[in-house]
Amino acid sequence: MLFLGASAAGQSTTNPIIQSQARFQPVLARQGMVVSAEALATQVGVEILRKGGNAVDAAVAVGFALAVTHPRAGNIGGGGFMMIHLRDEDRQVAIDYREMAPAAAERDMYLDENENVDQGKVRFSRAAAGVPGTVAGLLHALERYGTMKRRQVLAPAIKLARSGFKVSRDLSRSLGRARHVIEHGTARGVFYDRDDNPIKTGTLLKQPALARTLGRISKLGADGFYRGETAVQLALDMQQGEGLITQQDLGNYKVVERDPIVGSFRDHRVVSMPPPSSGGIHLVQMLNIIEGDDLAELGAGSAAVSHLLTEAMRRAYADRSVHLGDPDFTQVPMRRLTSKDYGKALRKTIGERATPSDKINPGEQIEAAAPGNTTHFSIIDADGNAVANTYTLNFSYGSGIYVPSLGFFLNNEMDDFVAKPGEPNGYGLIGDEANSVQPGKRPLSSMTPTLVLNRDGLPVLVTGSPGGSFIITTVLQVLLNVLEHGMNLAEAVSAPRIHHQWKPDMLFHERGVSPDTLKLLEGRGHTLRERRVWGFAGSAGYDGEWFYGFADSRRGGALAEGY
Ligand code: GLY
Repeated sequence: MLFLGASAAGQSTTNPIIQSQARFQPVLARQGMVVSAEALATQVGVEILRKGGNAVDAAVAVGFALAVTHPRAGNIGGGGFMMIHLRDEDRQVAIDYREMAPAAAERDMYLDENENVDQGKVRFSRAAAGVPGTVAGLLHALERYGTMKRRQVLAPAIKLARSGFKVSRDLSRSLGRARHVIEHGTARGVFYDRDDNPIKTGTLLKQPALARTLGRISKLGADGFYRGETAVQLALDMQQGEGLITQQDLGNYKVVERDPIVGSFRDHRVVSMPPPSSGGIHLVQMLNIIEGDDLAELGAGSAAVSHLLTEAMRRAYADRSVHLGDPDFTQVPMRRLTSKDYGKALRKTIGERATPSDKINPGEQIEAAAPGNTTHFSIIDADGNAVANTYTLNFSYGSGIYVPSLGFFLNNEMDDFVAKPGEPNGYGLIGDEANSVQPGKRPLSSMTPTLVLNRDGLPVLVTGSPGGSFIITTVLQVLLNVLEHGMNLAEAVSAPRIHHQWKPDMLFHERGVSPDTLKLLEGRGHTLRERRVWGFAGSAGYDGEWFYGFADSRRGGALAEGY
């Protein structure tokens, strides 16, 4: 039985016994729910819903607000993906607003004279930036699926940028952590003082340049970003380094609506993002591998379930490294990878012991780097329309290069391409030609904004997460915790996570997995590594009566709020 949370009276809407035992409780509401990584942005979304906006109106407002209040990942200088559920039509839309490689990009552009990857260039230079897609993507969603005027949904973000907001502890600390990657000088006077000390908690942060850029978008639409003054300034900034983005690249940027990946798990539909994200395909692939097992009987967090999940993850990420890339440039075997038959065939290759990753596909042993800083938000409106949106600058504050005249950070999404076959990117992911750099191509992503629908088309779970390569496995576990293990939304999101990505051959786990379980896993041949918590699976759900929300408490400053 699916169980999302408790009623306002403290009773479960479906199962009071489980409810009384739950240690974590979701937020409940009657009319709609917004969950984002930053409280002011969540409140912007709730206000839009209160004023009669639908989930898409709220999502667009939250997307622009996060660009102001959560600058490490909220953005107008990056890109992402939006999944929309239109309840009336029972139709799901996948909007691809991923960055595109500039026209001057070349396959080997990040190799130095010794054919080694120049890590500085691919991660922390102007050449690391793809053509930003966020503004085009959010406005596309608003025009096609929203109900409000552009000015209405941009107004809160412009106000936050122009009048300022009090810096949270979370923002101040993240700026402190990022000090070493942020290009010296560019962000001084806004986020740092003259000595590069981050703006202090409680200080009023005003971003007048960003307010002006947002004002142009409000007035002129996409042209306010991709043409005219913003485009001129951005192209000029590129010339200060080895940046490739030209005014023409900006003018040529295209949003693409793609067919979502649709899978199922037991009697629920799972609808997620297709390539150029690898998220939807591998989420469905992993669900197909494990669907024949009774995970509930084996027990959430047990060694048996953890082993099975790990082996499913290992196989999915091995496929990712070979088959996945921008579908406009490379043939991705989507049907095969997401078929139930293939899932069953892979299940047969899983035994009681760990399969060494080298037995699945030869490759180099590499480290998985620290997860980056994407951001996800989940929204459901009173009519049951839903939005799962994940967007990013790639790393925290992207390339660390801030464009002072425009007020935003540039992404370093080009690092999600394969700079050299077999060489790990910032997330330790390796790949091949399918994800090589080509002009106009979109780098492969792991972002997995996901909708889970019941037979009546209710969005019982709307979820996603940041975390680079850790995203897909995070979403998998949140889904299973709700659909298979009967956890409420808060427990499902809070439960300790594991992760495997084929290479390195390492089973990562958060603190909180029982030592006995870890011993059993080691006994089965897994190499374990504890790492600090990852992801922010801010999730929402609707059971036809109540709206549920939970802001993953792994990150400070987040908020789930309904009305
Ligand atoms: N930049 C991380 C991802 O898209 O997967």
